Amino acid sequence: MKASTVLLIAIPVLLVLAGLLAVATTISRQRSSTGSLGREARKADRSEAGAAVATIDESEAARARAGEARQSLEPAGAGKPVLSAAGGLIRFGEAPADPETLGVNRRQFFNRSIVGAQSLAWGGFSVAMIAFLWPSLSGGFGGKVRAGNRQDILGEIAEKKQPFYVPEARAYINPYPEAALGRAKEAYSETVLPGLEAGLIAIFQKCVHLGCRVPWCQTSQWFECPCHGSKYNRVGEKKGGPAPRGLDQFPIEVSGDTVTIDTGTVVQGLAIGVETTGQEAEGPSCV
Ligand code: FES
Repeated sequence: MKASTVLLIAIPVLLVLAGLLAVATTISRQRSSTGSLGREARKADRSEAGAAVATIDESEAARARAGEARQSLEPAGAGKPVLSAAGGLIRFGEAPADPETLGVNRRQFFNRSIVGAQSLAWGGFSVAMIAFLWPSLSGGFGGKVRAGNRQDILGEIAEKKQPFYVPEARAYINPYPEAALGRAKEAYSETVLPGLEAGLIAIFQKCVHLGCRVPWCQTSQWFECPCHGSKYNRVGEKKGGPAPRGLDQFPIEVSGDTVTIDTGTVVQGLAIGVETTGQEAEGPSCV
């Protein structure tokens, strides 16, 4: 699945979630501002109502007074009101709704606008985070990167006398000598061995000292770091400088003649002093 596909799925889902959140928040605000009473008020109302009913049952005069009160409080055109407490709370079951409840007043409009804007902002942020944290789907660095045709890669390396650089993988590809395979099996991770057996090694461009990009030195035929002078041979094994080990590697897959670098797996470089190819500098150093 590509990152664009993920975005196409994630954006509508997040927008729907944002819409649901906005609706739920609006309904909740409306209820709290126009409708129900708090728990304490309802409790007090119930207890007072019980006392009031008892009192009214005992006294005809009180019933008459309640009727008068009902008459005076009932809005025009409304249904039958209920007097729930003597002199207390009165609910009108069929009373016309407050115009503010039916329409959208300015405060509700601003509340909904704020909720909507916040939802959109969080939705956009979430989409960006998903895209950022899902690099293996993009086919770029962090996933599997197609480097090209094996014969073409080897041909270019031989012709230019320099590694084949794959910018999307942030890696160099160099040939791995068949004669060194015996030593490689002792020293290298099983993850990268299939690539070595196919005659290729993928080397991470990042210096293991402090992270500078390590360029190729054409004269010495080594990798030489311009930052503090660490040096690595053709297959990235440490030769000098402050680096604590050889350059890190990536596994390589060769399917048919297609070479793919798995940049989702970084394999630590060999320890200082471990060399398998015996390649020495072939000319003057660059740093
Ligand atoms: S970063 Fe390469 S030698 Fe320091």
